Amino acid sequence: MLDEIQILKEKALKALESVDSIDLLEQFRLEFLVKKGKIQSLFDKMKDAAKEEKPLIGKELNILRRSVEERFNELRERLSHQAETVPTLDLTLPGRRDFRGTYHPVLQVMERMVNIFKELGFTVAEGPDIEDGYHNFDALNFPPDHPARDMQDTFFIESDEQELVLRTHTSPVQIRVMQNQKPPIRCIMPGRVYRNEAINARSLAEFHQIEGLYIDKKVSFAELKGTLIKFSQKMYGENSKFRFRPSFFPFTEPSAELDISCFLCGGEGCRICKNTGWLEIAGCGMVHPNVLKAGGIDPEIYTGYAFGFGIERVAMLRTGIDDIRLFYENDVRVLRQL
Ligand code: PHE
Repeated sequence: MLDEIQILKEKALKALESVDSIDLLEQFRLEFLVKKGKIQSLFDKMKDAAKEEKPLIGKELNILRRSVEERFNELRERLSHQAETVPTLDLTLPGRRDFRGTYHPVLQVMERMVNIFKELGFTVAEGPDIEDGYHNFDALNFPPDHPARDMQDTFFIESDEQELVLRTHTSPVQIRVMQNQKPPIRCIMPGRVYRNEAINARSLAEFHQIEGLYIDKKVSFAELKGTLIKFSQKMYGENSKFRFRPSFFPFTEPSAELDISCFLCGGEGCRICKNTGWLEIAGCGMVHPNVLKAGGIDPEIYTGYAFGFGIERVAMLRTGIDDIRLFYENDVRVLRQL
């Protein structure tokens, strides 16, 4: 019988080792500690033992009960404490949906434009937002007294050494590319530009452009038109209408502006197209010989075309947002819809 006591003691203590919840602990109690449990049944058996063995058996039985109860109580203390701190989880509740972020509509449009130009064989280049006056104006054939240099249009940065500005367009990157690459050059230059303008529904002091430049032998205006129309059809759909209007930029000659039929109002006239039914989406032209020279390219051998798209205007068309300021106020009620 002493063996039996020993075996039960080992068994009980071992069973307690793997108890890690209140439920298992209760199971243990029912198996070992209740009146009809395994420990009590050994006590009941004691009456059959030989008289002289009884004191020793009794002593061993008491040790068995005490040691098991002690471990049991310790464990109960620990597990009940744990139960209080574990929050109850209702696994049947439906999950909560997190808000997923998306790209800002301006960036989405920019990426799309870049991808279409990449398909057409253009590479991508970038230049600094803070430019010197030479790249932003002089090298682009702006005369020294050109009104764009006026304080009213350009943000100047105070500097003792040289004239520094926040670039007013992405065209200075053309010069940087020409200075660093040999023709043929076919690249686009996306980026942020800055103008000291009154802020209203159509214009901001900070916006985005994509510049394009193609330089090779015998590049023609017809190629410029063909490329821009191809691009615009991919970007805005085969059915949009386009027109080229003669225009002027110091860095291109001849120059033109590309208009698209307003697809907010379908050409009927609205706030965005200023009731004309047309929206100006790009400036373009043949690169002026003086600009090629400033870029270190011989205008007797090479010709080229350049263009510059505004991006916000296009993002407005695609999202139907008719006030450009909504893009930058970051009101989540607006952004969630985009
Ligand atoms: N830089 C011009 C602008 O900001 C756009 C342009 C780019 C025009 C290239 C002609 C050629 O309006």
